[in-house]
Amino acid sequence: MTDYKVKIKGTGMFVPERIMTNDDISKFVDTNDEWIFERTGIRERRISNTEEGEFPSDMAYKATLMALENANLEANDIDLILFASVTPDFKLPNTAIVLQQKLGITNQCAALDIAAACSGFVYGLNMAQAMIRTGMVKNALIVGSEMLSREVNWKDRGSCILFGDGCGVAIVGRNEDSDDSDILSTHLGADGTGREFFDQPVGGAVYPITESHLEDGSHFMQMKGREMFKVATRTLAQNAKTVLEKANLNLDQVNWLVPHQANIRIIETTGKLLGIDPEKVIVNIEKYANTSAATVPIAFHEAIQDGRIKRGDVVLFDAFGAGLTTGATLLRY
Ligand code: ACO
Repeated sequence: MTDYKVKIKGTGMFVPERIMTNDDISKFVDTNDEWIFERTGIRERRISNTEEGEFPSDMAYKATLMALENANLEANDIDLILFASVTPDFKLPNTAIVLQQKLGITNQCAALDIAAACSGFVYGLNMAQAMIRTGMVKNALIVGSEMLSREVNWKDRGSCILFGDGCGVAIVGRNEDSDDSDILSTHLGADGTGREFFDQPVGGAVYPITESHLEDGSHFMQMKGREMFKVATRTLAQNAKTVLEKANLNLDQVNWLVPHQANIRIIETTGKLLGIDPEKVIVNIEKYANTSAATVPIAFHEAIQDGRIKRGDVVLFDAFGAGLTTGATLLRY
């Protein structure tokens, strides 16, 4: 079987222009900037403007145009779209297909959505890399795009402060250049014993939305913050160790850790458990809050754009999310 190297060829992002600060939130729930910033590291988040058409597929469309330009590829060079989101445009069709159409892709490439919450982008990347490595796919578009502002309960101060809207994408493909870029190791996992720590049971086949759900807000996302916090730190640290061990590398050889941005204290605790230099950890939660599947690709893209992450650097993506799902990717960019 063929064994191609796998390269991230281009990245892109889009966040809505509208900013909602902690002070803005304190006008409709009992909270304040100091509490939110101290406990989470978040100052503000972006909120989609629905009149401007900033839905998940629209954000992904704009981010993908940027990634195509960075990769020097055409839309029809993409032969697989994986769209990670817990806030898809519609129930049917899937958002990957909506995006395929918006991009004007006419090659009838496979297009599917990934429902793996905040680990969705890493799930997509790791699955695509296996297909690229074996020659089944040449260039895959991996999207993390979320409009969480639609699904959070804006009356629940324990959760609404944490989330925001945005999109990050990567085009990953067969490495045909004479460089060392490759995906070095991957890890994916899930543990359903924690599924009630963060869920949204109403609105699916089991519990269709009724008047009473709309009245009491039980159709929105619900989170047990403390439980999530404990699992997250343990899981992220273990993920990093797993991918390093698989690639036979040590932490000193890692240039950058790009963790899921759920809470600055989760990121810092994970860093301490691992013993990584905080300077090597990419953090942007202050500006965007938790954009679920979009946090890793947005943070990665920004760090490439501002010159921190360079070609040849060893980068570790590390994510966890509702489910509980988890995943990590170790790569040479
Ligand atoms: N403003 C002011 N007070 C608040 C707020 C708020 N926004 N939210 C909660 N409080 C109060 C609580 O009511 C409680 O008051 P009490 O002591 O009088 O009962 C007190 O603050 C402490 O509440 P805790 O929930 O224990 O606060 P904690 O320190 O655990 O912080 C937080 C809460 C920020 C949610 C934290 O638990 C967290 O970030 N958890 C992880 C969340 C996470 O990772 N979510 C996403 C994971 S999956 C994914 O990314 C999609």
